[in-house]
Amino acid sequence: MAVGDATIKRIFILICIIGLFGIATLALAAATLGTLHKRFDSIISKTTTTNRPNLKSTLAETIRIEDLMGHLRQLQRIADESNGTRAINTRGFNQTVDYIEKYLNEHVTGLKVMRETFQVRNFDIASDPILLSSINETIKNYTYSKILARSDFTYVTYSTSANFPDYVRVINIPNFGCLASEWENAAGFVALVKAGGKCTYAEKGILARNNSVRAILFYNNGETSANLAPIIARLRHTNELPALYLSYAAGQTLANATFLTSVTVKISIELQDLGTFPVDNICADTIEGSNTETIVVGSHSDSVPAGPGINDNGSGTAANLVLATNLARLYQTTSYTKYKYRVRFCWWGAEEIGLAGSSYHVQKAKNAITPGERLSDYLINLNFDMAGSPNFIFGIYDANTAPSETPVQALPGSRKVTELYRDWLIGQNLPWDYRDFNGRSDYGPFLEACVVAGGVATGSDAIKTAVQREKYRNSVGDNNAGFAGAILDPCYHLPCDTIANIHKFGYENLIQAAAFGLEHLGQHSNLSQWLYPTGRCYI
Ligand SMILES: *[C@@H]1O[C@H](CO)[C@@H](O)[C@H](O)[C@H]1NC(C)=O
Ligand SMILES: *[C@@H]1O[C@H](CO)[C@@H](O)[C@H](O)[C@H]1NC(C)=O
Ligand SMILES: *[C@@H]1O[C@H](CO)[C@@H](O)[C@H](O)[C@H]1NC(C)=O
Ligand SMILES: *[C@@H]1O[C@H](CO)[C@@H](O)[C@H](O)[C@H]1NC(C)=O
Ligand SMILES: *[C@@H]1O[C@H](CO)[C@@H](O)[C@H](O)[C@H]1NC(C)=O
Ligand SMILES: *[C@@H]1O[C@H](CO)[C@@H](O)[C@H](O)[C@H]1NC(C)=O
Ligand SMILES: *[C@@H]1O[C@H](CO)[C@@H](O)[C@H](O)[C@H]1NC(C)=O
Ligand SMILES: [Zn+2]
Repeated sequence: MAVGDATIKRIFILICIIGLFGIATLALAAATLGTLHKRFDSIISKTTTTNRPNLKSTLAETIRIEDLMGHLRQLQRIADESNGTRAINTRGFNQTVDYIEKYLNEHVTGLKVMRETFQVRNFDIASDPILLSSINETIKNYTYSKILARSDFTYVTYSTSANFPDYVRVINIPNFGCLASEWENAAGFVALVKAGGKCTYAEKGILARNNSVRAILFYNNGETSANLAPIIARLRHTNELPALYLSYAAGQTLANATFLTSVTVKISIELQDLGTFPVDNICADTIEGSNTETIVVGSHSDSVPAGPGINDNGSGTAANLVLATNLARLYQTTSYTKYKYRVRFCWWGAEEIGLAGSSYHVQKAKNAITPGERLSDYLINLNFDMAGSPNFIFGIYDANTAPSETPVQALPGSRKVTELYRDWLIGQNLPWDYRDFNGRSDYGPFLEACVVAGGVATGSDAIKTAVQREKYRNSVGDNNAGFAGAILDPCYHLPCDTIANIHKFGYENLIQAAAFGLEHLGQHSNLSQWLYPTGRCYI
């Protein structure tokens, strides 16, 4: 679903750098591909919606929506040829990684491209799962069907097997089970948890495990007619608990009964272990810059199984490709000052099953001893995940909402990065919003390991408020303000997350913000000192 697909007429003037700097012959041979596209937007075409000052960043000025969309069309083609998905363990994912690698190797000079492979568990359901409940000595045998609308329940992806010999008591978790305190009395029980709240199923799964529950029964929340049937939810691939997902009717009936009497359930889930399968991360490093002071720029390369994942997170993948390409091309010119710091662009695999690719990379860095590969060599992680949402906001990760377990040394720098993006957006007369910095994307493992993190994104499943819409209308005009009361990405994790699910105006501007941020950090005279005024962690 394309909402307000703003096409803004822009004028581009190509300046062939080869012509300008014909003397540096050798460098220029390499720069044949590195033809620098410099854009000069006419004030008039820009002011159709807003009055924009200059971008205050050479790298930002190289960001063109055409380049971003060009990559997205390739990702869409890959999904089209792969049953509509680019999820891990599909041809679509492999082709995505191959595309990134091939593009960088064939079209960009000055980057060192590497792959790293890790293993992810694979399984299938071996027989229909069974759920029985006992309430006041009445046994109910719940209906399982692969057709979710006809099913009382289904199993959760990355559930473990279970075969309860006896009935186990059910505890109703208050609210949505997003807070540790809501799980305090759950040890030894089967936990009944309603869908919703400001946390993911995976996060609820971690709290469940931490509080020693026997199994999890999620149930849909009935908030709309679309929230009645059970749904296919996912836990982290490292999950160690059996988990089922009930319809609203089945779940709410059980929840009501727990208030009156003792409710017990018996669960049987039989999984077939299909071993593991390989997933690749891909990273591309600038050759220049100190490798012991690295800026990591990341996005994820996989989609959910349900759809082609063009906004989520093809838009981040494409943005990262354009940032890497354009920076490498600027480095081929003599006029651009190269950063003192190495930049490592990474495309993480398996984000959608619980940040598996970035977690693997961080874990490997924790154990590394080679200079350039150690966690202490990483100064910052910038993350771009979902950048073209149709009903977009310019969302800045707000370091003040970092998870409570974040090491304090990583906070001042993360706050500075939040302010950096905010000040740029304000300076551009663009509207902005803070976005939860909850660790739910690939920056999470870095931040947790005491690496400063930040980034910008256009939003996923939150709703645009009337106040927000008005704020956007005032600065970017009616056409780009979107819809109040509508979800920021109406195709979030759905088959309709296609190339039509991209707001070009929002996408281009967000990636210009990203480019500005990278350049600003790259040109800092002492980034380590600036990001870590209280020193680094033990690492
Ligand atoms: C698409 O799905 C069909 C049926 O599940 C399968 O046989 C086929 O191999 C898939 N194609 C690709 C490219 O994954
Ligand atoms: C994806 O590539 C890996 C090797 O990296 C290979 O083992 C696997 O079979 C491929 N998967 C598909 C679905 O093509
Ligand atoms: C519940 O239903 C399943 C599937 O129809 C069946 O295999 C199982 O034996 C039933 N269990 C009980 C206790 O009725
Ligand atoms: C899990 O429990 C441990 C030990 O009680 C605690 O340190 C940790 O913060 C908990 N994690 C979560 C996500 O609640
Ligand atoms: C559960 O209890 C609430 C409040 O008593 C009631 O409104 C609702 O209809 C009950 N739902 C079911 C499915 O029994
Ligand atoms: C179970 O029994 C209790 C006490 O006898 C009664 O209050 C309650 O309504 C019964 N619950 C159900 C779901 O039948
Ligand atoms: C930055 O400052 C720190 C501490 O003051 C110093 O150790 C380091 O060498 C400086 N780095 C650069 C790149 O100047
Ligand atoms: Zn996603």
